Amino acid sequence: MRLVLVGPPGAGKGTQAQYVAVHLSVPQISTGDIFRANVGQGTPLGLEAKKYMNAGDLVPDEITINMVRNRLAEDDAAKGFLLDGFPRTVPQALELDNILADLGTRLDVVLELVVDDDEVVRRLSGRRTCRGCKRIWHVDFDPPTVNGICDACGGELFQRDDDNAATIQNRLSVYAASTAPLVAFYAERGMLVGIDATGPVDDITERAIDALRRFG
Ligand code: AP5
Repeated sequence: MRLVLVGPPGAGKGTQAQYVAVHLSVPQISTGDIFRANVGQGTPLGLEAKKYMNAGDLVPDEITINMVRNRLAEDDAAKGFLLDGFPRTVPQALELDNILADLGTRLDVVLELVVDDDEVVRRLSGRRTCRGCKRIWHVDFDPPTVNGICDACGGELFQRDDDNAATIQNRLSVYAASTAPLVAFYAERGMLVGIDATGPVDDITERAIDALRRFG
């Protein structure tokens, strides 16, 4: 299956992608994770992307689209993928069509995680991520046994630079202005399925897998 996961910042895309990608036996490809890995390694791409990410703005298309084109051409994506965080705009969606056409394939479905802004702010304010295995935690909703330490691998937990109040508000504005039209675009194409992304993580995973069954 070739799947895109869409939803506002903090909707739980990364959390659900971990489980849904395993269920579908496809790689999870997160543009945010690729950018953050480049920021961490201090690559030229990372240094450029960091300026936009820390402000909560979108990284320019000429950087993002090439990066996705290269990633989708890798062997592990040949039989399917779960894209998390790309496309985020209608122009990116049109470029994704071109990339997939060049690879001789097409997108199957877009899964939207529906969550309101208040919940998003609560989720992002308490998010912690493991430096080692990248497992996502929350100080209240999904706390590790020992504060600041990952249960899964013992790694140190950190708070993302873009999870501060001002940047969260800008990310929500950018989502409303740039990504909400993308949701309408896929709905018009009959490719969108939306699920309620509130409640326990396991229940949302079940809803996601159930919704995807209809797309085969
Ligand atoms: P990206 O990393 O994609 O960030 P985002 O879209 O803002 O989404 P998040 O990763 O913040 O949230 P999420 O939906 O994955 O939620 P999570 O599962 O972590 O992008 C970052 C930046 O990179 C962008 O701002 C931009 O600058 C750049 N970028 C990336 N892609 C780009 C593109 N295509 N074009 C241009 N620029 C791009 O969950 C959040 C928290 O909630 C966690 O603590 C989790 O434990 C908790 N949680 C999850 N589910 C539940 C639940 N059911 N109940 C309670 N808590 C929950």
